[in-house]
Amino acid sequence: MRPDYGMLVREAIAARENAYVPYSRFAVGAALLTKSGAVYRGCNVENASYTPTNCAERTAVFSAVCAGEREFEAIAVVGGGKDAGPLSACFPCGVCRQVLAEFCPPDFPIIIAADEQHYQVFTLADLLPHSFGPSDLTR
Ligand code: THU
Repeated sequence: MRPDYGMLVREAIAARENAYVPYSRFAVGAALLTKSGAVYRGCNVENASYTPTNCAERTAVFSAVCAGEREFEAIAVVGGGKDAGPLSACFPCGVCRQVLAEFCPPDFPIIIAADEQHYQVFTLADLLPHSFGPSDLTR
């Protein structure tokens, strides 16, 4: 059965509330659904030194992996100006796509949402074609 993407988008919107974004004021939320049915939230966490900033998607993945999860079903992402109006599509950055490729297969669904009624579903392969991943190191 297809996962409840609307629920996952709501979780990402809730995660975005905790974004720490004093520098960009661009708040992102992510919600990662595991094969076991758990949801791990992530938000972006910025830093005065800029470079250490962690994106919402990576926060969610690292939090899940830290909890012992490595098998994932889907991720939802929402983002936009902290005090702006309705959200529009926010795609994962290249680094986050690579981190997802470490754990997720090419057909892994990435839900890019404005709200729970308005979202588009992409696959990891759509967003990161011809990727370099764990299997390349075993050749
Ligand atoms: N950001 C994310 O959290 N996820 C993305 O996929 C794109 C960018 C964050 C990083 C930074 O805190 C802010 O958005 C502006 O780049």
